[in-house]
Amino acid sequence: MLQFMKSNRMYLLFVAIAVCAFRTLFAAESPVPAEALYQTNCASCHGAKLEGGNAQSLVDAIWQFGSSRSHILRNIKYGIADFSMPAFESALSDDQINQIIGFLFDAEKTSGVTKPPPPEKIYTLDYEIRVEILAQGLDVPWGISFLAPNHALVTDRSGELRQIVSGALLPHPVSGTPKVLHEGQGGLLDVAVDPEYTENGWIYLAYSHALPDARNENRPGAMTRLVRGRLKDNQWVEEQIVFEAPKESYLETRQHYGCRIVFDPNGYLYFSIGERGVGNHAQDLSRPNGKVHRIHRDGSIPADNPFVGRNDALSTIFTYGNRNPQGLAVHPVTGKVWETEHGPMGGDELNLIAPGKNYGWPVVTYGRNYDGAIISDSPNKAGIESPSLYWKPSIAVCGIDFVRGSLFPRWRNYLLVGALKYEEVRLLDIKGNRVLHQEIILKNAGRVRDVACGPDGALYVVLNGPGMVLRLTPVRDLNEGP
Ligand code: HEC
Repeated sequence: MLQFMKSNRMYLLFVAIAVCAFRTLFAAESPVPAEALYQTNCASCHGAKLEGGNAQSLVDAIWQFGSSRSHILRNIKYGIADFSMPAFESALSDDQINQIIGFLFDAEKTSGVTKPPPPEKIYTLDYEIRVEILAQGLDVPWGISFLAPNHALVTDRSGELRQIVSGALLPHPVSGTPKVLHEGQGGLLDVAVDPEYTENGWIYLAYSHALPDARNENRPGAMTRLVRGRLKDNQWVEEQIVFEAPKESYLETRQHYGCRIVFDPNGYLYFSIGERGVGNHAQDLSRPNGKVHRIHRDGSIPADNPFVGRNDALSTIFTYGNRNPQGLAVHPVTGKVWETEHGPMGGDELNLIAPGKNYGWPVVTYGRNYDGAIISDSPNKAGIESPSLYWKPSIAVCGIDFVRGSLFPRWRNYLLVGALKYEEVRLLDIKGNRVLHQEIILKNAGRVRDVACGPDGALYVVLNGPGMVLRLTPVRDLNEGP
């Protein structure tokens, strides 16, 4: 062969054949260039120069329904129900859609338009609201909790615990916090301050913990772990483990860790773990993933937990069948726990959590798989709790919190809901277990990972990309006239 190739003529022939073969292949796959595909299928609504028309601009750096390639692919392939964006599932192949997305991304780059900063003011049905940037320059901030009205703790998924004191982000992260596995969706997750913090000083952290004695050194098993510790100056001290999963339950997947931490009026601690990408584990009571758990704050197990005494179940489990719960909040009046979980495509859920109940994943869901496949024929089944609300299409529902305090009296006990993909904060009016109304109060400021009503009654919004914390306060009540 070498001999062959050394001969110049043979070499040229070889190259010519290769080029021809490549061209035929390429031509077979893409008979029409991406721009032509766009002009034929999309320009009538989105404009010949992508500037918008009957539908929005595709070069304004705002992706209302998700900015990643996979979100955009899904939006084009399956359409956006309720917004008259048609589905191109049967008209275009995945390859063609990907070519169009490449064309959109190139156009966005050459347009030079960047995402605008968050608005300084927003108008809702009830209030004109001031929006301030409380902290910025964070990487992927994940959770927020308050030690005092002017003192917040914020986790960053990279593993840093940060303090915001009197409106300023302290320059250095807290030292001595646990080592986290920052890979995929894992890292330092939630932070929660003990309800009796002023007496006992405890602060709780949830994070992705890797097994030191790895079965696979290159890819250790991981699971969500909870610790508590105290803050001394800018140091994490006196750490105790409050929840650790059985070693054999650790998984090599890197997604769906959960995790939120909340306390109910009786002082119980609730936390959530996602199914880690293994759907059927959510139905398996011997596994910690795909569940909401309840423990005492020192890590001991309440005697009246629903599965105590069963040797086929972990005694910390409170509910199961929960796909990836990244929102937990306790109702200020009823003391009941509400939960949000990321569903598959079109199956994001809001649930009222009750002991021992099965919330269905992956047996029953309103959603479809990302490849469009049906998961369950019916979204209801005897013995399985139906959500109080589901979002179809999925908004990528994340952190939640109830509105308390006196700053927003018209919204007292309403539920704030954050959404990553749709970049939204929604406000839900809930009566009993029914959602009466929902309003989008903030849109397109960034991916919302967490929301919180602070001890001062202001609303706090934790944004991933840009890594920011916003503070929302009312300017005036719009029902009261000018
Ligand atoms: C019949 C009109 C129509 C056609 C044709 C159409 N779209 Fe849309 N598209 C919409 C509407 C309406 C929306 C929703 C947003 C809005 O309010 O404008 C939308 C939304 C989108 C979004 C989501 C944008 C975001 O902010 O997240 C993308 C991406 C998109 N379209 C791409 C395409 C592509 C690519 C094509 C061609 C293959 C196409 N659309 C064809 C009407 C259309």
